[in-house]
Amino acid sequence: MAYIPGRKKRAGSETAGKEDKKIKVPAAGDIDILKLKKAFVELEEMHRQVRESYIEMILKLAIAAEYKDPDTGSHILRISDYATQLGKAVGLTPEEIEMLRYASPMHDIGKIGIPDKILQKPGKLTSEEWEIMKQHTLIGARMFQSSRSPLLMAASEIALSHHEKYDGSGYPYGTKGEAIPLFGRIVALVDVFDAMVSKRCYKEKSSFDEGMGYIQTLAGTHLDPKLVKIFAKMEKDILNIYTANTNIQQFIDEAAGIE
Ligand SMILES: [Fe+2]
Ligand SMILES: [Fe+2]
Repeated sequence: MAYIPGRKKRAGSETAGKEDKKIKVPAAGDIDILKLKKAFVELEEMHRQVRESYIEMILKLAIAAEYKDPDTGSHILRISDYATQLGKAVGLTPEEIEMLRYASPMHDIGKIGIPDKILQKPGKLTSEEWEIMKQHTLIGARMFQSSRSPLLMAASEIALSHHEKYDGSGYPYGTKGEAIPLFGRIVALVDVFDAMVSKRCYKEKSSFDEGMGYIQTLAGTHLDPKLVKIFAKMEKDILNIYTANTNIQQFIDEAAGIE
């Protein structure tokens, strides 16, 4: 049997030489693999940092819009949590759920273009002011519509469709039923729920049970009846988010995979 330098023959094995020929990792190769592993770890860390900054920028941008509205940034975090849970219950893929999670906080980003005196008016809006207010859907959609990022395209779609109503009486286009994108129908539901159970400059907050009951009354008119049914069955998950008080740093850490 031929001796191959650098390879040991196993004692007592007639076939050892043949098996040995299959082993072809040279010593120098070990160093390259170590380098490769190191580079991979560094790349993963870089990817995590980019992702963390990206999520942080998105949230800060959404919060900038919400600050113009006197309600706090916690509204957009709850919207994201509620929408994520509803998306899971509906059976979205993990990729779609992730997209919904990070695009939904931007549903009202277009409020950046609405004058403060309208956003912060304590009383009822005049019909002229209301027409201006409705523009936040179009402004938000326009901000991201030319983006090539799937996440920002989803944000554009949500901004445009979150005030459409299932019966076609919503705005900006009066789109009806399932012609309204699913992400828009999901965000519409959780946005109405959160608005109902939160204090706003023009109203006091309702109780959790009142909010859950109110959603039921909107099935088939304002909201997708199938989603309303699923939402009603998720009461425990919804209550957990309602009482959780998630803060922005927690949300960013979770997005970046930091425990
Ligand atoms: Fe809105
Ligand atoms: Fe909202």
